[in-house]
Amino acid sequence: MKSSDLFSRAKQLMPGGVSSPVRAIRPYPFYVERAAGSRLMTVDGMEFIDCCLGYGPLILGHAHPDVRDAIVRQVEKGWLYGTPTPLEIDLAARIVDDHPAVGMVRFVSSGSEATMAAIRAARGYTGKQDIVKVEGGFHGAHDAVLVKAGSGATTLGVPDSAGVLADVVAHTRQVPYNDPEALETLLAGNEDVAAFIVEPIMGNIGPVLPEDGYLADIREITAAHDTLLIFDEVITGYRVGIGGAQVRYGVKPDLATFGKIIGGGLPIGAFGGRRDIMELVAPSGPVYQAGTFSGNPASLAAGYATLCWLHTHPEVYQHLDEAARAIEEATVDAQRGSFVRTGSLFKHFFREAPPRNYRDVQECDREAFSRFWKAMLDAGVFLPPSQFETNFLSTAHSRSDIEKIADAYRSCLFA
Ligand SMILES: Cc1ncc(COP(=O)(O)O)c(C=O)c1O
Repeated sequence: MKSSDLFSRAKQLMPGGVSSPVRAIRPYPFYVERAAGSRLMTVDGMEFIDCCLGYGPLILGHAHPDVRDAIVRQVEKGWLYGTPTPLEIDLAARIVDDHPAVGMVRFVSSGSEATMAAIRAARGYTGKQDIVKVEGGFHGAHDAVLVKAGSGATTLGVPDSAGVLADVVAHTRQVPYNDPEALETLLAGNEDVAAFIVEPIMGNIGPVLPEDGYLADIREITAAHDTLLIFDEVITGYRVGIGGAQVRYGVKPDLATFGKIIGGGLPIGAFGGRRDIMELVAPSGPVYQAGTFSGNPASLAAGYATLCWLHTHPEVYQHLDEAARAIEEATVDAQRGSFVRTGSLFKHFFREAPPRNYRDVQECDREAFSRFWKAMLDAGVFLPPSQFETNFLSTAHSRSDIEKIADAYRSCLFA
């Protein structure tokens, strides 16, 4: 069956025909038959170079042999035990060793679950009620963070979803990104803030990069007001380097959340941080958290294989950076918009100057982005289908893939 027919059928069975809103590409999404390395092969016989990579987890590309073998080995031994496994100790030790801010970690099944639990732990620890998030920050699809959220929620109002109680989001305050003064003012006027949760690099409207000193400033401000700092490293964890943004920028949050890469492409999330906070999590403390699939052995196996591979090939971060820079260079003389990049996170914004926050991003010409996105697809390159989602590269993108992506950028931006 072709993609168009599959989508017609899917729409009868699932809301909008999809399992997650960003996938509802118009007039219909392409359906993937299989994926390998940097490529997606569709049921229509098309092949695309993939710069979406499952929205970030696949830093080693599709079906990397080490990850595949680890999954297969695990599956042969069973894939759900409902008891602890040695693997979770290996992965926990890896994450704790790699992150200066993480003394203990708890595995969950998604990034959303991780941020939900980290916020609960922060409230449990501080006894305070409110949280602060950044406008356009995306921390998953749970109620407390669905206010001016990035990613697929960007197009909606405030709160971002029907069904979210105003009473719930009344405890969620907002500040613009890259604005330490706004945070200082808010915390100075509100002593009831348990945590400030922030993507250190905004990935779900971006990348939008932290200005010099911003992350250090918010560390200082939150500490001065007895508010915990939570880095949401679901995208940045192992993407901007081993140790994520906290190592790259040398700023130590109180708690951090993870997902995506640490599961090697299978469902996972984790939250961790200071031992005195994490020891409050059940069963060692009163902050309840639990899950049937938490620490799922197949996810742990895929994640551990991925992190081991990254540790034995630390040069890949430099290679990914160079590859993304080659794409950036192809856009230098573009008449419209601005290219933003850090490591292998990149995006062309249809706005004159690089955005520094959500309000800037809102000014992008979305129609121009949609035309550009379609032209890139026609040129054989699949980018996340939104102006508000970062693009990714993987170690599976060959030199020739990068040249093809750069050529496509050239021809689609200069057309
Ligand atoms: C920064 C950030 N936090 C949390 C999440 C939610 O993760 P998940 O989709 O695994 O629930 C995402 C997902 O894109 C994310 O980018």
